[in-house]
Amino acid sequence: MSRPRNDTFLRALLREPTPYTPIWIMRQAGRYLPEYNQTRARAGSFLELCRNPDLATEVTLQPLARFALDAAIVFSDILTIPDAMGLGLHFVEGEGPQFERPLREEWEIKNLVAPDPVEHLSYVLDAVAQVRKALAGEVPLIGFAGSPFTLACYMIEGKSGTDFSTVKKMLYARPELLHHILAINAQAVTAYLNAQIESGAQAVMLFDTWGGILASNAYERFSLNYMKEVLGGLCRVRDGQRIPTVLFTKGGGLWLESIAASGCDAVGLDWTIDIGVARQRIGSQVALQGNLDPAVLLSSPAVVRDGAAEVLASFGRGFGHVFNLGHGISQFTPPENVQALIDAVHEISRPYHV
Ligand code: CP3
Repeated sequence: MSRPRNDTFLRALLREPTPYTPIWIMRQAGRYLPEYNQTRARAGSFLELCRNPDLATEVTLQPLARFALDAAIVFSDILTIPDAMGLGLHFVEGEGPQFERPLREEWEIKNLVAPDPVEHLSYVLDAVAQVRKALAGEVPLIGFAGSPFTLACYMIEGKSGTDFSTVKKMLYARPELLHHILAINAQAVTAYLNAQIESGAQAVMLFDTWGGILASNAYERFSLNYMKEVLGGLCRVRDGQRIPTVLFTKGGGLWLESIAASGCDAVGLDWTIDIGVARQRIGSQVALQGNLDPAVLLSSPAVVRDGAAEVLASFGRGFGHVFNLGHGISQFTPPENVQALIDAVHEISRPYHV
């Protein structure tokens, strides 16, 4: 099977030449788009939207209908895996995700099983296949999962917005229990991403949203090593095409060299690090994805344009950059600022590619 008509995203991840810097946006299908809110209302809830492949396909395509994005990302959530493990996911309006049965007792942890994605997560695989078909070879489709550690944070804490003291207590008091959870999560994530690749995902991204809360000597042991295990188990070529991998640890700036040596093709950067500095440190080994502060999009088109220009100038001439935000887009972002960002990246990056 051939590459998409616009394959700039895949090429940039593999550090091949492109005429401009490709861009996609973390959480590009989301609440800042009125059409998303309408479809979500029709679905009844966020989770019902995720579980309905027709509606998930519809919202995946919404930002692409408005903007010249260079990639699509399947509409889903990282918490589908712990939900399939039986922890009972629900979303409380204004408070984010919660689990009815967080992992606390040793017997619960020992009983944890990696779900078979075909049996328990077929709604995600169906959405991947439907989106891939609907894209009709226009732009590539990204599949994703949470990192084993980030999933463990939600599974143990039971909700977002905590200070992570329950996870950290387990890490220091009962490290073998946390390692047990992480090993099962790594198996689950590997099988899940391989199933997404099998269903049509053309690149995959690991979201390690909470790896950055770990102490320096704990990051490698409790987060990076398990992501390496996932990367080592992934099917990296499908239909003769390489499936690039992106690893994003929010707050991972301190550990860039180890992250770049993990076996991934690209490293996602949050906004706290200068992308030019990151390029000097690891840009000869991997591509970089990022890293405009999402809050810049709360300003005006002119400020957004300057912000984009600064990131592009900092990366400088050459290949191997996928433009993105340093984290997910805010629900309060005016869509016209997203338009300004995409136009700015496509225009301003051209001279850096000649
Ligand atoms: O990028 C995309 O467009 C794909 C969709 C996507 C969602 N979640 C949809 C979503 C992706 C890639 C995710 C990943 C995800 N989910 C992460 C990792 C990335 C990150 O942001 O750090 C995490 C930590 C989660 C867990 C999660 N899901 C939280 C903490 C929340 C609540 C946050 C909030 O903004 O309310 C969600 C809900 C969620 N996932 C929404 C969307 C569009 C908003 C839900 C809604 O419509 O009410």
